[in-house]
Amino acid sequence: MAWRDWVRVVEVEPSLYAANFAELGEQIEALLNAGARVFHFDVGDGHFVEPITIGPIVLSSIAPFVHARGGVLDCHLMVENPERHIPQIAAAGGDSVTFHVEATPDPAAAIALARRHGLQVGVAFKPQTPVATAAAAVLEGADIALCMSIDPGYSGQEFMPDALERIGELRRLLPPHVFVQVDGGLHNENIRAAHEAGAAVFVAGSAIFVREDLPRAYRRLVHALS
Ligand code: DX5
Ligand code: ZN
Repeated sequence: MAWRDWVRVVEVEPSLYAANFAELGEQIEALLNAGARVFHFDVGDGHFVEPITIGPIVLSSIAPFVHARGGVLDCHLMVENPERHIPQIAAAGGDSVTFHVEATPDPAAAIALARRHGLQVGVAFKPQTPVATAAAAVLEGADIALCMSIDPGYSGQEFMPDALERIGELRRLLPPHVFVQVDGGLHNENIRAAHEAGAAVFVAGSAIFVREDLPRAYRRLVHALS
């Protein structure tokens, strides 16, 4: 299975970073029942980004039931030396791995490594990184390009409006079969603009999990794209 099978024209991806970890299973289940299929799993190492977030141990706990329900886990590696972690992500049940172009000297090798481990693969870039640098790495053979609309690290930050321009530029530089994904600060009022700029995959943490009714919050985002 591949990104082209997972994305239903557009795809809203709940970011588990913002979940209540005491209720992680129930929250994932509620979102699966609401129609979510792709879950975003943020790995932060305390070096590439300030916080240590979640990693392969949590991933391996949730992967079996996410897969049993037809869901997939999209792992965003906000880490130095992503090559060191890619095999562990695959072993823990990740379906796709996205590494940062700023974190490796050899994106082509990281893409090849992910492929050897049977993973779909994405390339992410920070707001300060030239779009052309990111696009060149994506063109080494990635399936998806992740445009950060915040500085990576924390959930709950404000969307940077200039991300819209970067999304558009990225869309123009990449062939149509490569999806553009956007991550950070998305909510009901700006998700459509990100879509119009060229993104098809939308990561949402606080816009879903900092709500009382998760299924409703998820569906409202999907609806805002229709
Ligand atoms: C943070 C992560 C994001 C985060 C997004 O850097 O990469 O995936 O969970 O959270 P929100 O949607 O709250 O900005
Ligand atoms: Zn992320």
